[in-house]
Amino acid sequence: MDIFIYGTGCGAGDLVDEALPIEKVTAFVDREGGRFLGKPVITLSELAGRDFDLLIVASRDAEHVERECGRLGIDPGKLFFLRNHMKIVDRNRSYETARALLGDRFIDRMIHAEKLIRTPLWTEKERIAGPGSDNDYVRLKTLEAICMRLEGVKGAAAELGVNKGGFARWISELLPDRTLFLFDTFSGFDPQESADCGEGFKEAHRKAAAEKVLAVLPHPEQAVIRRGLFQETAQGLEEERFALVSLDADLEESTLAGLRFFFPRMREGGYMLLHDWNNPKLPGVKRALERFEAEYGRLQAVPLCDVNGTLVITV
Ligand SMILES: C[S@@+](CC[C@H](N)C(=O)[O-])C[C@H]1O[C@@H](n2cnc3c(N)ncnc32)[C@H](O)[C@@H]1O
Repeated sequence: MDIFIYGTGCGAGDLVDEALPIEKVTAFVDREGGRFLGKPVITLSELAGRDFDLLIVASRDAEHVERECGRLGIDPGKLFFLRNHMKIVDRNRSYETARALLGDRFIDRMIHAEKLIRTPLWTEKERIAGPGSDNDYVRLKTLEAICMRLEGVKGAAAELGVNKGGFARWISELLPDRTLFLFDTFSGFDPQESADCGEGFKEAHRKAAAEKVLAVLPHPEQAVIRRGLFQETAQGLEEERFALVSLDADLEESTLAGLRFFFPRMREGGYMLLHDWNNPKLPGVKRALERFEAEYGRLQAVPLCDVNGTLVITV
C-alpha cells in the first residue's frame, strides 16, 4: 500500500510511534517540502500527480487539506482524517480501512477523544450539544467534567433558579445518587427585586412549574423542591452541606443571598457555578459577587467561555 501522512507535527509523530511503523509510510505531505523521520516531505500539489492508496491527515489543518484536495482533484475517498476535532464519521465514511491499518487501540483512542468533545462521557442517550443543538455546549461539558471530579466529595447538589429544569436535569443525570435541592418560586422573580426589569423578561420566567421540572429529571426521587423565595425556603437547611451548587437567579439580591447561604456550606473539593457572571444583560450577578467578595475575600474561580459567562468557583 502506498500510504502518505499529511502533517509533520505531534499528530504525525504519534501516529508513527503508536500505530503505523515508519517502514509503511511512503512519504509525508505538508505545506512545505523537506524531510521528517528520514522520509521525504512533499506538498499536496506534488501528491496530486501521483498514484497512491491513502492520505492520512494527522494535522489539525483538516479544513485546508480537504479544500486543497478538492481543488487539486484528489479522490476524497483516499483521505482519512485523524485530528480534525470533528466526529470522525463526519469526514470519514468508514473506519474499516483505518481499523485494519492502524489497529483497534489507536482508533478507539481517537473515538474516546471525539466523545470528550462531542458527546456525554457517561451516557449515549442524548447528545448534549453540537451543531443544530440549542444547548450551551461549554456550560454542559464543564458540568460533566466537574461531576467527574466530585467523586469522593460528599454533599448534596442544589440549584437556585431552576425555571423549567433545563440545567437541573443535567445535574440529575450526572449526579444520580445525590440529593438535589431545587429552589425557585416557580412563579417568576420577586416583584420588588425585578421592579426595573422588562415585562418580557419577567413574563418569560413566570411559566415554570415544579411538577413539570420533576417530569424532566431522570432521577426525580432524589429531588427536593423548595418552592418560594429562596431567602425563606433556604431556612431549615443550615446543617446541609453541598458538593455542587448552580446559582442562576439572574438578579443581584437573590444571587447574593445564594452566595451567602451556600458558600460557607460547601464541602472542600466542591464547586459553585455562578451563571451569568459575565452576562452584560444581567449586571446584578457580577455586582453580587463583588459584594460577596468584599465580605469574604477573593474567591478562587475560573471564568468559562460559555454563552452567558459562567464563573466556576472552587472551594
Ligand atoms: C434564568 S432562570 C433559571 C434557568 C435555569 N437554571 C436553567 O438553566 O434552565 C432564573 C430563575 O430564578 C428564579 N429566581 C430568581 N430569584 C429567586 C429567588 N429569590 N428565589 C427563588 N427563585 C428565584 C426565577 O423564578 C427563575 O425561574
